[in-house]
Amino acid sequence: MQVINNIKKMKSLLKEVKKTGKTVGLVPTMGYLHKGHLSLIKKARKDNNIVVVSIFVNPTQFGEGEDLDKYPRDLERDINLIKEMTDYVFTPSDKDMYPEGFNTTVEVKEITDKLCGKSRPGHFRGVSTVVLKLFNIVRPNRAYFGLKDAQQVFVIKRMVKDLNLSIEIIPCPIIRDTDGLAISSRNVYLTSSERKEALSISKSLNFAKSKIEKGERNINKIKSKIIKDITANPSAKIDYVEILDINTFKEVKNIDGKIIIAVAVFIGKARLLDNIILEVKK
Ligand code: PAJ
Repeated sequence: MQVINNIKKMKSLLKEVKKTGKTVGLVPTMGYLHKGHLSLIKKARKDNNIVVVSIFVNPTQFGEGEDLDKYPRDLERDINLIKEMTDYVFTPSDKDMYPEGFNTTVEVKEITDKLCGKSRPGHFRGVSTVVLKLFNIVRPNRAYFGLKDAQQVFVIKRMVKDLNLSIEIIPCPIIRDTDGLAISSRNVYLTSSERKEALSISKSLNFAKSKIEKGERNINKIKSKIIKDITANPSAKIDYVEILDINTFKEVKNIDGKIIIAVAVFIGKARLLDNIILEVKK
């Protein structure tokens, strides 16, 4: 495994790799790696000859007052975790990615106005811009994204389609701790009592799923129950609870077909995302 910290070197190395006809899988991350990230890397390892993991805490996707400065970082630990499974770790500097005069952004419209995009204006502009830059630097055949950030997957897929990129986007399932909490780099912000409260998120989603499977079709009832169960915890504040069509990412009017129940919840200092996907047959 090689650690590459500049764009020029990464581009020229991968140009040589591609000449040999090898396939390249990219796993974009912001580091502080955990089992969720590792699942993406394992899948990339299975599917491709060469695996590139980028570690870059992208400043442009953080809003003012968000946790950019506090975002957990430990490059040495990250490298040790992935060195057996990865060919190249790409760790560019902020200056290399956003040099003086940088003035271009990529914006996927409409679907970025809601959910995480609504509470974090400009967030997805930062994400799509950095991801397109990473795609152009690495030129992967496939790129791997976790469904924990379901809206992000949808936005990236839209960008790839709209801009005719020849990259296959591979969505990967949410990895959870044994008690059900969706793993996130931001879980380190939770105190032990907040972590217990955070369990209500996955529990309420599972409960909603079982209710729907037993025939519940009232969207307001389902949402209210999730909100009630989560806000029963003193540190929890709901950002959103939405039920969407997985293919269009639009709010559903009827519980029908393949849907996703997506939530964002503030618990203490952490903003946690989770969701559950289910297929409902009439
Ligand atoms: P980051 O939060 O580091 O996540 C990197 C990738 O890991 C994302 O695709 C995310 O969905 C996935 N991931 C995180 N937790 C997961 C879990 N518990 N199970 C499965 N996958 C999980 O998402 C970003 O970074 C950034 O926005 C990025 C795409 C790198 C652009 O800067």
